[in-house]
Amino acid sequence: MAVERTLSIIKPDATKRNLTGKINAKFEDAGLRIVAQKRIQLTPAQAGVFYEVHKERPFYGELCDFMASGPVVVQVLEGEGAIAKNREVMGATNPADAAPGTVRADFAESVGENSVHGSDAADTAAQEIAYFFSGLELVG
Ligand code: CDP
Ligand code: MG
Repeated sequence: MAVERTLSIIKPDATKRNLTGKINAKFEDAGLRIVAQKRIQLTPAQAGVFYEVHKERPFYGELCDFMASGPVVVQVLEGEGAIAKNREVMGATNPADAAPGTVRADFAESVGENSVHGSDAADTAAQEIAYFFSGLELVG
């Protein structure tokens, strides 16, 4: 399998509870390398552009406000099959359905406030990484 990069976000519910290190440990234990990382505060408009694919969904407004409600840690994870591997480490969107030991099973508070974002495919990963990072910031 090829080495890939994927965009990860530690969401405001998790930064608020000081869980960045515990979540990063799960990524690293799974063989994912954090090759870029920064803590930022999004505006609702910036969150809206990031989640544009969901703009017709009923939860879109609430999601954008939540993503802007506190600091987030945006990061690029690298590894063999990193896109699918990160989705495994994250667990299902709804923590009630997430497998034991996943980030969302251990830490998510609800289907909305679910601690992490991860890209879902190669094209979205490339697009999402470019939204937050320049090539100079990616050091593998
Ligand atoms: O994050 P993931 O790719 O697992 O799920 P998604 O379907 O792409 O949805 C993006 C985000 O919208 C989720 O992670 C939740 O924060 C939020 N969401 C929500 O608030 N209510 C739902 N019914 C579904 C998603
Ligand atoms: Mg998604």
